[in-house]
Amino acid sequence: MWHGRFSKNPSERLRAYSESVSFDRRLALHDIAGSKAHAAALQRAGLLSEEELSAILSGLGEIAGEINEGRFAWREDLEDVHMNIEAALTAKIGATGAKLHTARSRNDQVALDLRLWLRDENASLIAALRRLQGALLGLAGRGGSAIMPGYTHLQRAQPVPAAHHVLAYVEMLERDAGRFEDAARRAEVLPLGSGALAGSTIALDRAGIARELGFAAVSQNSMDAVADRDFACEFLSACAITGMHLSRLCEDTVLWASTEFGFLKLGDEHTTGSSLMPQKKNPDIAELARGRTGRLYGNLMSLLTTLKGLPLAYNRDMQEDKEPVFDSADTLGASLHILAEMFDAAEWNTVRMAAAADDALLVATDWADYLVRKGLPFREAHEVVGRLVALSVERGVGLRDLEMDDLQEASKLFGPDATGCLDAKLSLASRTAEGAPSPDRVAERLAWWKERLASAVR
Ligand code: ARG
Repeated sequence: MWHGRFSKNPSERLRAYSESVSFDRRLALHDIAGSKAHAAALQRAGLLSEEELSAILSGLGEIAGEINEGRFAWREDLEDVHMNIEAALTAKIGATGAKLHTARSRNDQVALDLRLWLRDENASLIAALRRLQGALLGLAGRGGSAIMPGYTHLQRAQPVPAAHHVLAYVEMLERDAGRFEDAARRAEVLPLGSGALAGSTIALDRAGIARELGFAAVSQNSMDAVADRDFACEFLSACAITGMHLSRLCEDTVLWASTEFGFLKLGDEHTTGSSLMPQKKNPDIAELARGRTGRLYGNLMSLLTTLKGLPLAYNRDMQEDKEPVFDSADTLGASLHILAEMFDAAEWNTVRMAAAADDALLVATDWADYLVRKGLPFREAHEVVGRLVALSVERGVGLRDLEMDDLQEASKLFGPDATGCLDAKLSLASRTAEGAPSPDRVAERLAWWKERLASAVR
């Protein structure tokens, strides 16, 4: 389709090296949608007759059918998805097919196709995020009022409701969905009409094409429009950040499912055994999702690096945008769905959680707060309680087992009510600020999320 000025055919190696149809055929249906809207604009501009337009539309419709049914004969020698479809159209309807590429270049065409493709992908990843949020809400709900230790530095820190811990991930996934929504807003801009880089002497009704394709805006600089892949970088970035969140969720899951923690029981259908050690039950899904986050980061780096230093406008390097984008969409989508399924079936071991959370050391901070309420500055209170912790460790007894004399010696402010306040339930009940984990607050937020998710999915 570009051989006019050449007297030799491309070498076999060049063909194999440069073809993209083996992967960009995934854009086929979006390419066809873009071509239909383009053809309609050509007809409105008087460049196609009514009959020619309907021949093109029905030819493209047939091709879409063949692709959907797997009957379409893809040809590597036709380089990419765009030329495959155009050649098939011309083979079907004759010379009229050759009019389709009027006032268009593959440079604005491929930019459009990828934007259309990402619109769908953004929407399905948002739906998959909602699905995982739903599974996590279920898990949080099954936790009931169960308390587990919350950790900092992976050292037991303070008790938290299990639901609060799980809801933290629901919040993260909400921000992730927001990032995909943002990416979609900037992706849904029409580049068609930008030609190779300098538009076309044949001006088409771009706003009409955008409307037909459901895009909110048309690009305002033809060079920018064919060179821009920011929207793909944003998509990959949203995938990478979501992957980071999933990886942390998976790491918590791996820990919780270990014998050492024993907080969470994963379903048999979501764990694997060892070919050597018969007792093993491994959390492979969580490990794989954690591991695949590396691919999501790699894909973002890959595209950023490809684009870095490219002069305006289109360069063939940009053909390398597609595989990372496809891979991130597939990888993240698969992780979100399987994690949702895994958490749907996961069960808490509330006995193990309660035993781990029962250690009075976890509420040592509450003693400091107790002294603060009696007028001691926090730093001093912290110091006092620190000495009592050291004393209890030295004697090998729990904090609650220290004698009143010991407390009094550390600070005269300790009264008979001091030991009673070392209680995880009491401690949590008084953590009532917005965002804090009192059981009422957590229940409130859980209900809020259920409502929110129901309306988001609606
Ligand atoms: N397959 C190409 C890509 O994905 C399409 C655009 C090719 N344009 C060109 N002038 N060779 O980037």
